[in-house]
Amino acid sequence: MKELVNGGKWLDQDGNLIHAHGGHILFYNDYYYWYGEDRRDNYYVSCYRSKDLFTWEFRNHILTTDSPTSGMRIRTKLKLKREDGGKVNLERPKVLFNEKMKQFVLWVHFENGENYKDAACAIATSDTPDGDFTYHGHFNPLGYMSRDCTLYQDDDGTAYFISAARDNADLHIYRLQDDYLNIEKLVTQLWQGEYREAPAVIKEENVYYMCNSFCTGWAPNQGKFGFAKNMGGPWSVLEGFGDETTYSSQPAFILKTQDGQLFYFGDRWDAKDYFNSSYVVLPLEISNHKMAINYYEKAVLTDSGKIKFTNE
Ligand code: GAL
Repeated sequence: MKELVNGGKWLDQDGNLIHAHGGHILFYNDYYYWYGEDRRDNYYVSCYRSKDLFTWEFRNHILTTDSPTSGMRIRTKLKLKREDGGKVNLERPKVLFNEKMKQFVLWVHFENGENYKDAACAIATSDTPDGDFTYHGHFNPLGYMSRDCTLYQDDDGTAYFISAARDNADLHIYRLQDDYLNIEKLVTQLWQGEYREAPAVIKEENVYYMCNSFCTGWAPNQGKFGFAKNMGGPWSVLEGFGDETTYSSQPAFILKTQDGQLFYFGDRWDAKDYFNSSYVVLPLEISNHKMAINYYEKAVLTDSGKIKFTNE
């Protein structure tokens, strides 16, 4: 039976460890595409795909130190390496398909590789979901600091970029232009002074839910969520979900499967050895303005093709 053991070693179909941390899954043309951080060698972001969420095919290192670069109409810095040749940091990559431009647009958190003082976002694009992405550089959205981030695409195609601002004290929701290549507007500033990061958004029955973590670096903490009828708010005050360490995980993204199941995906970071970091997947329950996760040791794919969670 195919299974995903929480905190275990998740392998691709060739038996290699999956490197897709702080990631995101996009469904496109019959496949789930999983994008995430891959800090090995000269890689930044890798892409895998699957039809059933259990068998993963490695597709490409879509962003590396040697990716093609191209400036944009907004002023960006096209730096994919430091002056000394070392790597910069590209964290929490998220990818959406832009219907208007017929291209895949990636937004990611950029840092210079030495400290976290740039607090910027960066953009890259590709005509295919797993092609070599062209890097368009980094910038500070409307001049703000921007760290942990996510993207959310609404039913009508409107997309939002959400990121931690003011040294992580506040969370900002920005609406993107219709080509997804720039910020259109800061729509709201949330939970000021509460230091929320690792945001992930889902909409259920016309209500938006956003989960996030507190700001404790690689160490897990109590996950919280808020909800709103509009992205621009008003958003509810934060309430806890999961246990005091969110079952030893930090939110990466929320996936709604093709048959409507909701899954919480988190990173179980290893603070001592980043490359030993693993993943957690749990069923996510949303009802009556509450978001909940309960712990199971693993997800299994049953013979009938259903995904079940179990401790056996
Ligand atoms: C976490 C953040 C991660 C990474 C890490 C570095 O708080 O969620 O994406 O930036 O800090 O310490």
